[in-house]
Amino acid sequence: MSMNLVALLYLVASICFIQALKGLSHPTTSIRGNLFGMVGMAIAALTTAALIVKLAQQMGGNVAIGLGWVLLGLVAGGAYGAWRAKTVEMTKMPELVAFFHSMIGLAAVFIAIAAVTEPAAFGIAPKGSPIPAGNRLELFLGAAIGAITFSGSVIAFGKLSGTYKFRLFQGAPVVFGGQHMLNLVLGLLTVGLGLVFTFTGDWTAFYAMLALSFVMGVLIIIPIGGADMPVVVSMLNSYSGWAAAGIGFSLNNSMLIIAGSLVGSSGAILSYIMCKAMNRSFFNVILGGFGGEAGGPAVGSKEQRPVKSGSADDAAYILGNAETVIIVPGYGLAVARAQHAVNELAEKLMHKGVNVKYAIHPVAGRMPGHMNVLLAEAEVPYDQVFEMEDINGEFGQADVAIILGANDVVNPAALIKGTPIYGMPILEAYKAKTVIVNKRSMAAGYAGLDNELFYMDKTMMVFGDAKKVVEDMVKAVE
Ligand code: TAP
Repeated sequence: MSMNLVALLYLVASICFIQALKGLSHPTTSIRGNLFGMVGMAIAALTTAALIVKLAQQMGGNVAIGLGWVLLGLVAGGAYGAWRAKTVEMTKMPELVAFFHSMIGLAAVFIAIAAVTEPAAFGIAPKGSPIPAGNRLELFLGAAIGAITFSGSVIAFGKLSGTYKFRLFQGAPVVFGGQHMLNLVLGLLTVGLGLVFTFTGDWTAFYAMLALSFVMGVLIIIPIGGADMPVVVSMLNSYSGWAAAGIGFSLNNSMLIIAGSLVGSSGAILSYIMCKAMNRSFFNVILGGFGGEAGGPAVGSKEQRPVKSGSADDAAYILGNAETVIIVPGYGLAVARAQHAVNELAEKLMHKGVNVKYAIHPVAGRMPGHMNVLLAEAEVPYDQVFEMEDINGEFGQADVAIILGANDVVNPAALIKGTPIYGMPILEAYKAKTVIVNKRSMAAGYAGLDNELFYMDKTMMVFGDAKKVVEDMVKAVE
């Protein structure tokens, strides 16, 4: 296989990745986008395998053994990834993504170590010659970012899963005096050691820099609350892309540079969008803010205020007599796995002539697009699903807004100066003529805030697990 053909195939794979990202920007094109991604990855992996064979032949190595290792990696990693992706629960998706990022970071570290140990095998320097300073800088950056991504993602994974007793894996932030100063000192030391490696080629400095980077990854993530982890995961996603791009420069591999840059920039844009939708600065998330005690008691919830509550039958009666209904899904809907029941309810209502729409907040749930994926899984038609900007103007005319397991994304506290979520854009469900809210209790949502919407005269609370409540509504509408 000639190097020109390799470059051409890498170019084709890169175009597939760009098409994949484009396709994933809308539910109707997302399957096509995924297909492009799969084809691109297959071309990239097979081309790289062919390239390894060619290099092994040129260097007089054992081609069969080399190819055997590559195939073992492809089959073992591919099978494990496919199994995890197939069996993962929708609410556990951010953890899976954190796990994948940790693997990308670790891969970047391994490649960098291999390249520093055997530069000739990677074509970085002729046998016996030192690695050029430019390549050393790229290897330092790629390895450091990869190590931070790995250990940071492991901590993010632990915090997201919430099932481990280990203190660093708990959702609550881990803070101690002088933490920022320690991070600063370690950061400067890491850069210093990296520069020593760049200018002198001293491999001790390289390994010391790598060890410090692993520690930095842990220290950067532990002060951040568990509920802020999705933003952190998206940030680590971006890091993993830059790590791959850095290594791609050292290896002179255009595929790694392009794919790494795509991941790096799309992850950065996603983090920005998430922060904007939560009205929080990136800095605020990284330094740790609210979110450490997700699901904790609501601020002000100690004072027991009366709310109007009703049964699923009452709600079904109101819904059946409405002309327009807007459904607002939230994290609780995902936890209860009530999406299929909701689709059934909507179909029954539409059959009765009710106009039903879904309103999606950009950060409803715990990861970007969480609600869109959930509704798509239940085969809710895309033309019934509306983004916040497109539907907010319609709440005023809607007869009923029914909120299912959502809290912060409809909390009017966001309109009041001085509240922790002030300025966060919300779905204006409070403007509907009647509001029905389903949740299990009066407990607060992710931001730990009480929600005035629950106490409004026009609001009826229907307490209970979303799946059970919606299924009861379906029966009652029938
Ligand atoms: P939340 O504010 O977390 O509220 C979810 C509500 O669902 C809770 O109040 C809970 O109340 C209820 N619930 C839980 N399990 C339930 C069940 N089985 N049946 C019925 N209700 C149930 O969710 P949201 O409104 O979707 O807002 C998302 C929050 O996450 C935002 O603050 C957002 O900033 C944050 N966040 C989102 C993202 C992304 S990208 N989506 C990333 C980071 C942070 P009960 O306990 O009383 O049932």
